[in-house]
Amino acid sequence: MLVFSLFLCLVLVGCSDSASSSKKSLENEKIKLVDNEEKLYVGFILDTLRDERWYGDKEAFENEIINLGGNVKTLAANGHTEVQIKQAELLIAEGVDVLVVVPSDGEAAAPIVELAHEAGIKIISYDRLIRNAAVDYYISFDNTKVGELQAKEILKHAPKGNYVYVGGAESDNNAVLLRNGTMNILQPHVDSEDINIIFDQYTDNWDPAIAEQNMKEVLSANSGQVDAIIAANDGTAGGAIRALEEAQLAGEIPVSGQDAEKEALDRVKAGTQTMTVEKPMVVIATHAAEMAMKLANGEDIQTDITVENGQEDIPTILLEPRILTKDDIK
Ligand code: GAL
Repeated sequence: MLVFSLFLCLVLVGCSDSASSSKKSLENEKIKLVDNEEKLYVGFILDTLRDERWYGDKEAFENEIINLGGNVKTLAANGHTEVQIKQAELLIAEGVDVLVVVPSDGEAAAPIVELAHEAGIKIISYDRLIRNAAVDYYISFDNTKVGELQAKEILKHAPKGNYVYVGGAESDNNAVLLRNGTMNILQPHVDSEDINIIFDQYTDNWDPAIAEQNMKEVLSANSGQVDAIIAANDGTAGGAIRALEEAQLAGEIPVSGQDAEKEALDRVKAGTQTMTVEKPMVVIATHAAEMAMKLANGEDIQTDITVENGQEDIPTILLEPRILTKDDIK
């Protein structure tokens, strides 16, 4: 019973009883008919609000939709695909004109695309690619490049030795692209036997606690003989660094990150984290908001490239990431 009501809560983001459901449909009607004019209505479905960056995306996206004269509702699913599917059904029932989705699981999110198209609305895959489905548009940063930037910077600090790769969630296409980028750079150094990758694993749900536990096991299994850590984002980097702190090795071993979270910037300034990668949320969010309003208005969008998602070549906008080291942050 508790699990079901929690599930229901997650779906609706905030409990409400049946009595106010009619009130809710009235509210929905009001949403669309503000100032007696039909405003375009955009639905934004996030994977989670656990990581700091998604708050930035939510705020910037909502502000831009409102600036462009639309209405927007953002829902978050705490990493549950079945909740995202329910949320898509809810937003479609509420009459959204377009859906923008950050999939919790790139493969399992495909039904959301079918739901949208059955309702005659378009769907944008935001930051993470929905795979094996006829997504209308995809916008993200160049995630392969993020992985390359991480490896290049860490190699400057540790050209030789034992490397640990702390990946993101394998269900997230970005984590696969990041790892590809990193291995593109590391492989020649592995082949020349300068570096030895002693640990290489994805981290379920990008969970910092799992990254910390994995790092503790690697340190004890290798009696601390670790020379470099490539962590896929600031959350997993934070977990790995907590394990280093416990072993009095923090600041001794270079560690990468991504997302330029506040805590990570402090760690880079303090020297316990070597770098992070900035992907300005305002840039991707405002771009996506403009795309969403155009699609909701029945307009097409020009893109220079496409990305193959296992089924289709998806019209895509890829944005440039930027490395941040101690010098940049000063
Ligand atoms: C990825 C995203 C990263 C990171 C991660 C965890 O898809 O590109 O910026 O934050 O999710 O939420």
